[in-house]
Amino acid sequence: MNREDFKILYTGLIYFDNAATALKPYILSETISDYYNYYSANAHRGNYDLSLKSSKMYEKTRLLVKEFINAQKEKEIIFTSGTTDSINKIVFGYFKHHLKKDDEVLLSKSEHASNVLPWFMLSKEIGFKIKYIPLNENHEITLESLKKMLNNKTKVIALAHITNVVGDIRPLAEIIEIAHKNNILVLVDGAQSVAHMPVDVQKLDIDFLAFSAHKMSGPTGVGVLYGKENLLKETTPIILGGGMSAEFNTKGEVIYKDLPDLLEAGTPNIAGVIGFGETIKYLNNIGMDKIRIYEQELKQYLIKRLKEIKKVKIYNEKANSSIVTINYEGISPYDLALYLNKYNICVRAGNHCAKILKEELNINNTCRISLYFYNTKKEVDYLIETLKNIEVFDF
Ligand SMILES: Cc1ncc(COP(=O)(O)O)c(C=O)c1O
Repeated sequence: MNREDFKILYTGLIYFDNAATALKPYILSETISDYYNYYSANAHRGNYDLSLKSSKMYEKTRLLVKEFINAQKEKEIIFTSGTTDSINKIVFGYFKHHLKKDDEVLLSKSEHASNVLPWFMLSKEIGFKIKYIPLNENHEITLESLKKMLNNKTKVIALAHITNVVGDIRPLAEIIEIAHKNNILVLVDGAQSVAHMPVDVQKLDIDFLAFSAHKMSGPTGVGVLYGKENLLKETTPIILGGGMSAEFNTKGEVIYKDLPDLLEAGTPNIAGVIGFGETIKYLNNIGMDKIRIYEQELKQYLIKRLKEIKKVKIYNEKANSSIVTINYEGISPYDLALYLNKYNICVRAGNHCAKILKEELNINNTCRISLYFYNTKKEVDYLIETLKNIEVFDF
């Protein structure tokens, strides 16, 4: 779908590394370049036309994001530099002030480093315990395994909506319902989901959601932290500076602004945020439901065709996302990625920042093929033919 909007695809490139970052439609760079060329004033800091325009465009994106994830209020949308930044802002801005030594935080072993390392550091500081919800034979968490982990010390469940190696989609609605019945807050890492399926924060009753614009064909350096207003109000800013205070004096007294300014100190990535607004309009025009259905069909086709190659081991056939993780018998995933690169095919080799998952998969590294709406069956066919010809490649 919409391939003509991606100039990079005109070169014949086959891009299957969408879980790392997605390609950008030309409208993104045009929007960003318009900002830099015609109204590159600071936002929220000037009362002249140029600055007012830049503020207006910046805030327009906030409204678009609010509608995109169906948040209740615009002030629940905080612009950050990405998922990593959003999670850190919540772990150190909210949970640092709400967790105690005897509390427990639940993660899984398939979480990305961004949803593990902040917890490690805070746990060292406060002393709370981190526990891992066990994974089943398909490397998924189940509601039963989750329920077994709960006790009256459990205060947070922090999980990816879609994991970035196994690609399983977590049953968020059920997880959150169980959590809330037990007075547990849920932080959702939406880095791999918001780009690929409709995510409705009110319907799912998500407490905190983090995601990155660059994985949804938007700019790098822009992300979103969504939080319910009452929770964000109790979040202490971990970055302090311009734009977030109404008053301060030499006695050190500060009157802070309300949300969202409170959590957006300093000049933000104005161009990126404005570009992100255009990305959201672009995705809305295609339709997130349509994207989800298209990717599902393409993913099934990819699996079917990969199965023609005996030496290919698929680790996550049952996963419901557009991520397919494989290895090719006798060839390291790094060599495989290099081989495919020779044929203009981009895939990702490695542990994909989910460094504790290898304990579960019993394998250090894999090759990840991750799809997006502009990928096609023809590209999958080319990948399969290239993999079938691998014997003649000299490693
Ligand atoms: C599941 C998951 N969480 C978090 C991240 C971190 O995203 P970012 O690097 O945009 O902050 C990624 C990136 O690959 C991811 O896949």
